Amino acid sequence: MRLNVDCIESGDGAAGLVAVVVASPFDRSAADLPIDAASAERLIAEAKATGFTGAIGESVLASGANRWVALIGAGPAAKATSYRRVGSAAVKLAQQVKAGTISVIGANSRSRARFLAEGLALSGYRFDDHITPTEEDRKSQLTGATIVGDDEVKAGTAIGVELAEAVCLARDLGNEHPGRCTPEFLAETARTIAKQHGMEITVFGEDELAKRGFNLLLAVGRGSDEPSRLIHLVYRGAGPIKKRIAIVGKGVTFDSGGYSLKPSDAQINMHLDMGGAAAALGCADAVGRTQPEGVEVHFVVPSVENLVNGNAYKVMEIIRGYSGTTVEIHNTDAEGRLILADALAYITEQKVDEVVDLATLTGACVVALGEETAAVFSNNDDFASRFISSAGAVDEAVWHMPLVDRIEGQLKSSVADTKNIGKRWGGAISAALFLKKFVGDTDWIHVDLAGPAMADAAWEYICKGGTGFGVLALHEYVTRSGNG
Ligand code: BES
Ligand code: ZN
Ligand code: ZN
Repeated sequence: MRLNVDCIESGDGAAGLVAVVVASPFDRSAADLPIDAASAERLIAEAKATGFTGAIGESVLASGANRWVALIGAGPAAKATSYRRVGSAAVKLAQQVKAGTISVIGANSRSRARFLAEGLALSGYRFDDHITPTEEDRKSQLTGATIVGDDEVKAGTAIGVELAEAVCLARDLGNEHPGRCTPEFLAETARTIAKQHGMEITVFGEDELAKRGFNLLLAVGRGSDEPSRLIHLVYRGAGPIKKRIAIVGKGVTFDSGGYSLKPSDAQINMHLDMGGAAAALGCADAVGRTQPEGVEVHFVVPSVENLVNGNAYKVMEIIRGYSGTTVEIHNTDAEGRLILADALAYITEQKVDEVVDLATLTGACVVALGEETAAVFSNNDDFASRFISSAGAVDEAVWHMPLVDRIEGQLKSSVADTKNIGKRWGGAISAALFLKKFVGDTDWIHVDLAGPAMADAAWEYICKGGTGFGVLALHEYVTRSGNG
């Protein structure tokens, strides 16, 4: 389900839930609130009774004439991104009182409106395509939110709505069950994005992949009846191109582990092992919607299912990948790095300026940084800082991690050029060092989003399941690259 978000000039006469955004410390009087006097009095009384301070996301609620009214805190000298949490507080209140619509007053700048719109739309998202709706569901559903404001607010709302829509596309791809979301399903989604936004698209099927030597990608996909794919979308922005960027996303549509089989519990959520692909395709959609100038962006998604059949790849196989490097397989569950190796070798060959790969690559990364934060590894510190600053500007949590030289020795093989796993300790680092072998001297960032790509439970504006993490950071990075 999507929450429809728009903007109007006046909130007069709004029904449902009417929320006023206020800063902390809260010191407003009833006469100060842009709603009818009787409702304002009730809200102020409630705020006093509950000790409301205006902290981010804090709220008070009162019933007005035929509607609900609320105050929602935006914190002190609020950062614009805090308005996402204002949006999520508004949605929670509306759901609590079963209001069908929300009006929010008080997001008084373009960027605040953008993040508020994102917060509303992202909090209103539910993946309910496979749930048979009851009559009760239909009646009590929150369907629309309106931000009240001037032309600046309207412009901000419009951007927030477009970007949230792209994040929701990434969430939908993640949440779609693995019986439906297959490599071909991702390819079909990419074709739709290409058509909608006038981008170029190439999808390599298995024959083409074999002809071109994508043997690592094909090896991982060999254990499945679903054919593997390599998807390549190209966006060309208007104006002189300042930078050519490639965004590569791991698209394992189900990771059973292969013959290094995961225990049943560990297979839960492994339909979300395409979180990197979802971020890449979500970013392609975002870029198509906002049309940043001065950049050429390549979106590359190697996509397979990692299953087991009589033809599946085996531990101890040696495979020569696209780059010519041979890899000895020591664990078929370290499959993401294999399909990425071929995709990275393919795209760096095309002389792009910078490559960002995103992958739900290692459980070790979740152990290191927790479920909310992605790891950033890079062969260029300046590139890493620019990316980290873009992620920070849109409030996606990332942390710079080291490519410790000494760990590279763990990847030595006695019978091939390299093997596909290192030791248990530092597992996110050895995975990143494996990928580094396939990017040559191209500036490169690897984002391990095994934690934040999926959520066990909803929090703030994040839903349970696929989160769409990375779309906003990537979009911000791409947009800045065209401007700078
Ligand atoms: N898809 C997993 C990583 C993963 C684990 C993502 C948990 C999200 C949540 C990846 O393919 C994998 O299985 N990695 C192994 C690597 C190991 C065999 C070196 C892991 O992390 O255990
Ligand atoms: Zn795996
Ligand atoms: Zn995996």
